[in-house]
Amino acid sequence: MSKTIKKIGVMTSGGDSPGMNAAVRSVVRTCAYHRIACAGIYRGFEGMIEGDFIDMDARSVKDIINKGGTILKSARSKEFRTPEGRKKAYDKLTEAGIDALVTIGGDGTFTGAMIFGQEYDFPVMGIPGTIDNDIFGTTHTLGYDTALNTVVEVIDKIRDTASSHNRLFFIEVMGRDVGHIALNVGVGAGAEEILIPEEDLGLDRLLESLRRSKRSGKSSSIVVVAEGDKIGKNVFELKDYVEANMTEYEVRVSVLGHMQRGGSPSCFDRVLASRMGVRAVEELLNGKTAYMVGLLNDKMALTPFEQAVKGKSKINMELLRVSEIMTT
Ligand code: F6P
Repeated sequence: MSKTIKKIGVMTSGGDSPGMNAAVRSVVRTCAYHRIACAGIYRGFEGMIEGDFIDMDARSVKDIINKGGTILKSARSKEFRTPEGRKKAYDKLTEAGIDALVTIGGDGTFTGAMIFGQEYDFPVMGIPGTIDNDIFGTTHTLGYDTALNTVVEVIDKIRDTASSHNRLFFIEVMGRDVGHIALNVGVGAGAEEILIPEEDLGLDRLLESLRRSKRSGKSSSIVVVAEGDKIGKNVFELKDYVEANMTEYEVRVSVLGHMQRGGSPSCFDRVLASRMGVRAVEELLNGKTAYMVGLLNDKMALTPFEQAVKGKSKINMELLRVSEIMTT
């Protein structure tokens, strides 16, 4: 028999992403709708260990649906990885009357939540929030769509200067282990080449492809490189290599960095966050625990934490072919 839940704690953890605030708002308002209490937990598992909580009601989350970042702050906690840290967190939650959790973050967040839930028989649900889209069990994580739009806008601007100077630009985008952002923005912004960790193009083929596009009459080029791409040591080494082998090109590098994580969430991310928050709270109230709420075939879908953290999110191979054809 599942226990009756009286107060849900909500937290954001790991790298922040646009849409996290919209998810917090949804969790808080769904709790209010079902007349149960809700508390915000500051700085993820760190704040949980320290008992850094704030009681929240429907009005506490006004005017945040459009805000980037997370009002609850985010952190990566080493202490929560230890049994002692988790015991402290359990004591603080119990003291505050929090008897269930909604955790918003990536696979590190879900791993922590899963272990904690098992150790203390504590109901936990997860909402995937990361711009990298690297979580199994959902086609979209919160913030991914916003990041794609942000990056495409920036690449459009870089293209203006690239073509004015007949330059080749390597643009590095986020994606530590996966190429979702690179692949989609590469197609969306019409890049000549897209380098992702899932596909090892190799330096020779990269050169060949750039030579081909030069021969076909292109005077400037954009190559989108995922942060986790494995060709060369880094994007600057790529630049040196291409400059040494293609003297006809003047090459520049742009590393977009953390600006990709900021900004007001897109409508898609706001709607997704609102849907996920409702579902996460209602599943907890139905007695479910240790699941992540995801989006599959445009429907909310539950994936056990264990699968969400072990499974690999796959890139859309069709997009690679589309890109190849578009750069003819
Ligand atoms: O949120 C995921 C991510 O954006 C990765 O793509 C990137 O490698 C990492 O976060 C950067 O993390 P930090 O903010 O800790 O430097």
